[in-house]
Amino acid sequence: MSELNLQEVLDFAIDLAKKAGKAISDGQAKRFTEGTAAETKKNSADLLTEVDQATEKLVKEAITAKYPDHAFIGEESAQGSESVPEGGCWIVDPIDGTTNFVHGFPYCCISIGFTYKKEPVMGVIYAPFLDHLYYALQGHGAYLVTAQAPEPRRLPLAKPTPLPSMRQAVVAMEWGSDRRSEILEAKLQSFRRLCGDPEDVEGGKMVQGIRSIGSAALVSASIAAGSIDVYYEIGTWSWDQCAGTAILREAGGVTVGSKAWTSKALASDSMFGTVPPEVLMGRKYLSIRAIGDTPQESGRAAQKRLIKEFYDAVVEFDPK
Ligand code: IPD
Ligand code: CA
Repeated sequence: MSELNLQEVLDFAIDLAKKAGKAISDGQAKRFTEGTAAETKKNSADLLTEVDQATEKLVKEAITAKYPDHAFIGEESAQGSESVPEGGCWIVDPIDGTTNFVHGFPYCCISIGFTYKKEPVMGVIYAPFLDHLYYALQGHGAYLVTAQAPEPRRLPLAKPTPLPSMRQAVVAMEWGSDRRSEILEAKLQSFRRLCGDPEDVEGGKMVQGIRSIGSAALVSASIAAGSIDVYYEIGTWSWDQCAGTAILREAGGVTVGSKAWTSKALASDSMFGTVPPEVLMGRKYLSIRAIGDTPQESGRAAQKRLIKEFYDAVVEFDPK
């Protein structure tokens, strides 16, 4: 494959995300007028609508027409066993936050990621009900455009502050759609240690707050912006994460994978500046925002310290 024009890929993806955003808002208006109920996938906490499917079709057809040599992985057509090829690959969630979409809670978006040479190099996230557009291209920074501030603003929006410990952190975590007892036990234990007052809860980290927004992509975008500090989730897929990791990395953040992968990466410093296929496809993700340097500690060293602190507190499990 000849070298790609990545700027053209980004411009195309932004235009496509806006078209998909219109399909999502028109689709919601129609559903609300008609009073349509959502279908379920694996259980009642895993929803699917005709708008997810129609939006994926729209996006896939446009990509295939423009870039016929590229691979495509989309939530609604994926088998779950996909791998990332060497050439261009589009990794798309037509609606991330389908539960929010169905309920009219505005935190849902189209998420368009793109990998090249097996790495996320471009990401576009567009939340049509908020009119927030996040995008990034490897080596060119991450940006936010909103209706109120239409000139692209570089992310993070403010100079990164230090993060002395988990006590100063707002952490995003989700309940997910797998509600089996063993999964809930692991999550409850993790919530307990993260929230707990160390004077009363063994190993308590007493984080400032926990948020469950219901869209992996918008959480990653919020970390890139600097308004959430940490995001931890097991069980999401590459289409939930690809665009977000590309945007977050360009905003100085970092995404790591399972505890085992991360302990090796921490030893070799290999998690900065890249999200390898083992992490992207690995379904276990921990992301941390850009952290400001202090005279005592660089931002990178602080990210590593917080990753260790976080992984000491939580219980890992294998997703179904
Ligand atoms: C979901 C969202 C949610 C996460 C779920 C995902 P979907 O994506 O990203 O935040 O907790 O695990 O499935 O199903 O709305 O595309
Ligand atoms: Ca989805």
